[in-house]
Amino acid sequence: MQKGNLTLTMIKPGAVKKNHIGPILGIINENGFTIKAMKLTHLTLEQAKCFYAIHKGKPFFEDLVTFMSSGPIVAAVLEKDNAVQSFRDLIGATDPSEANEGTIRRLFAESLSHNAIHGSDSDENAKIEASFFFNQMEIF
Ligand code: CMP
Repeated sequence: MQKGNLTLTMIKPGAVKKNHIGPILGIINENGFTIKAMKLTHLTLEQAKCFYAIHKGKPFFEDLVTFMSSGPIVAAVLEKDNAVQSFRDLIGATDPSEANEGTIRRLFAESLSHNAIHGSDSDENAKIEASFFFNQMEIF
């Protein structure tokens, strides 16, 4: 099946607080991704629960949504061929201690729960997640 060319990312509160937005966006651009939409925003607890509803009931869910609503984030839609997998390769494993050298999580994440950046895990979820933050007219 043809792979989609869009993915959704969030630079998480810990990385925003540490002024890592610039360096992270630089790496994203250097690796051939085009920014199609972007916003600095602050999720409410309810919005974080809604975004991560797929993880509801898991032991880390409450900590995850509390963290994700603890400060501003940057949400962006990114374009590249095979965007979902290509971006997951760039950010590295969910647990930064397992992430390859040079990946964004290896460079900027503090821990598994505070792992600097999110990337969609499938084309289907990329569409759902992009529409969580942006309407059709805001994606260029
Ligand atoms: P993310 O890619 O944003 O998707 C779900 C998030 O839940 C993940 O990054 C991690 O930050 C977090 N997460 C996943 N598994 C665990 C875990 N076992 N313990 C704590 N946090 C986790």
